[in-house]
Amino acid sequence: MILDRRSRINTKELQIRLKNNNFGEKGFSSKQVAAFINQMQVYEGAMYEISTKLEILDSEFSMRFSHNPIHHMERRLKSVDSILGKLKHKNLPLTIDAIKDNLFDVAGIRVICNYRDDVYSVANYLSAQSDIQVLRVKDYIKNPKQNGYRSLHVIYAVPVFLSSGPHYTPVEVQLRTIAMDYWASLEHALRYKTDLPDAKLAEHSQTLLDCARSLQNIETQMQNIHRDINNAPRVGEA
Ligand code: GTP
Ligand code: MG
Repeated sequence: MILDRRSRINTKELQIRLKNNNFGEKGFSSKQVAAFINQMQVYEGAMYEISTKLEILDSEFSMRFSHNPIHHMERRLKSVDSILGKLKHKNLPLTIDAIKDNLFDVAGIRVICNYRDDVYSVANYLSAQSDIQVLRVKDYIKNPKQNGYRSLHVIYAVPVFLSSGPHYTPVEVQLRTIAMDYWASLEHALRYKTDLPDAKLAEHSQTLLDCARSLQNIETQMQNIHRDINNAPRVGEA
């Protein structure tokens, strides 16, 4: 199952957002707007290519091992406002070249897996495919962040074939288990969606760190049960 976190590219809306961009500068020219929209279409194509590859891997696993490694996927293209905001934040010019050279998460897919083994199998099989390149790996499962965040982040470059030839385009893929996703959603809400007093924030952050450790333990125990089930003879086969 794939959840689209944002609707498809809406050309009209993009034209309006870009022409009247609210970053204190004069709006983009029609030519720049057209180039931006073309580039977003390339990112969208790259995102679809990777999600199709992931769906194919998932269904092959389900045929071969009677197990679906992927619980569900979410995908999204970064909004114009976030793209321009990130360029500003990094003191970069508001140009297509600056986006292409510096932002690797314009196209993003989150792959939520059932077990930790699934995260690594899916990532390894995808990384081994000959038509895509691995640009960067950040393994926050082996090395969790200080706040307790765990996930495997891989930036892939996938060729999108246009009339001018292949355009290798980055897609950020975040792979995590259901437990890691459960944790990350609450931590994200605590960090970005609330205006709690500092003391409360600190208290909740500490509790979340404890939760991350507990979830990791539960996950290890459940992973072990799952491995044993998988390795045991099937009912009727023994
Ligand atoms: P930015 O994209 O500029 O943040 O830098 P980066 O791409 O080097 O960052 P990184 O790969 O570490 O993280 C990218 C994404 O992972 C973020 O946009 C979030 O979606 C997610 N992420 C990273 N750290 C955390 C965290 O501590 N908590 C949560 N909830 N999500 C995180
Ligand atoms: Mg990022």
